[in-house]
Amino acid sequence: MQKKAAAITPAVQPTPIVIVSCRDSQGRDNALTVAYCCNCSFDPPMVMVSIAPSRFSHHMIKETKCFVINLATKEHEGVMQYLGTKSGRDEDKLAKLGLKTEDGRTVNAPVLSGFPVNIECKVVDSIVTGSHEVFVGEIKYIHAREDLLDDEGNILFDKLELL
Ligand SMILES: Cc1cc2nc3c(=O)[nH]c(=O)nc-3n(C[C@H](O)[C@H](O)[C@H](O)COP(=O)(O)O)c2cc1C
Repeated sequence: MQKKAAAITPAVQPTPIVIVSCRDSQGRDNALTVAYCCNCSFDPPMVMVSIAPSRFSHHMIKETKCFVINLATKEHEGVMQYLGTKSGRDEDKLAKLGLKTEDGRTVNAPVLSGFPVNIECKVVDSIVTGSHEVFVGEIKYIHAREDLLDDEGNILFDKLELL
């Protein structure tokens, strides 16, 4: 197998593209598209999302120390593009898209009702990594569409066409 040096970029690909929703200390809700997201602990269950300080969402997560990861599927392509290119600094993106939300059960952040899986997380740590800040979130509650669960409550990921 012939190999040569590739450009040095974040090269673990593909990663799922998710929508992270959050709320600031004033009660204002927002959401952004995030590609830098992965599992980071089995016990306790933890995930991490990496968000640049320039994003409007960044200060919101800093303030309320929680977020929700909403798993996006093929049907959310347009929403993903919108939330990933417009900023909550300039407009109420959730209202603009008419996205239905409900309050998190365990966190002070909105859950995007139209997404099949929503993972409520409390920030337990964060680390600034170059251009981004990684927020480590302990999973406190997972909402999943009924038809995506087996008898033990495990999510049937092969039924989801993740972005
Ligand atoms: C496919 C895609 C993936 C993205 N991944 C990330 C990411 O992992 N971290 C991040 O900080 N921004 C990421 N962005 C950019 C933000 O979603 C974008 O800057 C957004 O407008 C920020 O919204 P806000 O200012 O309302 O927080 C991504 C955008 C797209 C389109």
